Amino acid sequence: MNIKDTQLTKDEIKDLYNTYFYETFKRFDFIANQGEGSYIIDEDGKEYLDFMAGIAVNSTGHCNKNVVDAMIAQCQSIIHASNYCYTVPQVMLAKLICDSIGMEKIYFQNSGAEANEAMIKLARKYGKDNFGPNRYKIVTAYNSFHGRTLATLAATGQPGTPIQNNYDPFIPGITYAEFNNLESFKAACDEDTIAVMVEPVQGEGGVIPATKEFLQGLRELCDEKGMLLLFDEVQTGWGRTGHLMAYMGYDVKPDCVSMAKAMGGGMPIGAMCTSAKLALTFGPGAHGSTYAGNPVCCAASHAQIKEIIEKNLSDNSQVMGEYLREKLAKLPLVKEVRGKGLMIGVEFTKDISADVKYNSSDEGLLITAVRPSVIRLVPPLNVTKEECDKAYDILLNVVSKLV
Ligand SMILES: Cc1ncc(COP(=O)(O)O)c(C=O)c1O
Repeated sequence: MNIKDTQLTKDEIKDLYNTYFYETFKRFDFIANQGEGSYIIDEDGKEYLDFMAGIAVNSTGHCNKNVVDAMIAQCQSIIHASNYCYTVPQVMLAKLICDSIGMEKIYFQNSGAEANEAMIKLARKYGKDNFGPNRYKIVTAYNSFHGRTLATLAATGQPGTPIQNNYDPFIPGITYAEFNNLESFKAACDEDTIAVMVEPVQGEGGVIPATKEFLQGLRELCDEKGMLLLFDEVQTGWGRTGHLMAYMGYDVKPDCVSMAKAMGGGMPIGAMCTSAKLALTFGPGAHGSTYAGNPVCCAASHAQIKEIIEKNLSDNSQVMGEYLREKLAKLPLVKEVRGKGLMIGVEFTKDISADVKYNSSDEGLLITAVRPSVIRLVPPLNVTKEECDKAYDILLNVVSKLV
């Protein structure tokens, strides 16, 4: 459905939003009417270079033809069947994912938060099954983001922020330690800790990559103490950091990894994937979801992941990421440019990220602000050099006016 089908003006659409919506987002002042490759086109035909990519979702571009074709074909075949039935897209996707990232089992979910929720449940059950009723504690990192459900909010290490305020009490047994500080994690784990959970690159926290020593140290710590290593790759997964999964670039294999965002090509799907060690932890009745593994979502995801693998988009992510980071370092007011592949954070010397975000959107570039002084760029993984140049030129123009 697009604006022409409604006979409404942009202002009338905005009024309807004001009437009916809980507004938890401060929206851009345009309607995302159409998506084509790296661009969103608004109600007046104005083009926006989409370097937020639906917040790291549209990794093969908007309305990628192979993804669209796969969805149409699946809609004409079967749209939904209960998980009591076998369906083909589900199992083809399960095989593609497990084989390409070296994991043994998968559980589909509908979002990133749900995938993390499942991962937390799995870790707790593994602890109780194998070590007794008290072995359920999980340590996560300060500054992390794991989702908005109550368990994932508890796992999100941002006490005192609007994300967490007023939603306590949280589920017990989750404590926080300093990211990239192995000693802090060692100190936070006790004999009842069953798992450690981190993002390989903290995304919402300001695009902060883990060091190799930190992740390898966590792997050793978990092996030594009989704990599980859980990676939240909801944002870093599927080529974003220059590797299919970020852990592949760190040479550290987690016991369980969650994923969502880029895997669906825009359709709501998430998953957690585990090594053989956890293969027997979930049995009949242990977990479930009506929609998880929906055939249309799985068909879209299968096409999206095939596209990422066959077109070597992880490699393009590395090459374009390096190119873009080098350019961005030349912007005025830059304190640091960081990230991996096409997951890029630019920290300024002043708290200008909201101004940069909204002024850039007026100029035809979409980015996100993740901290008062940090913007994040997560363009499609098939972005071109010319598109990176165009984004830089817009940012240069915008930031120069804020000096
Ligand atoms: C690392 C990470 N985990 C979990 C989530 C939550 O995913 P969703 O919004 O799909 O529930 C996000 C979303 O930004 C994320 O970046």
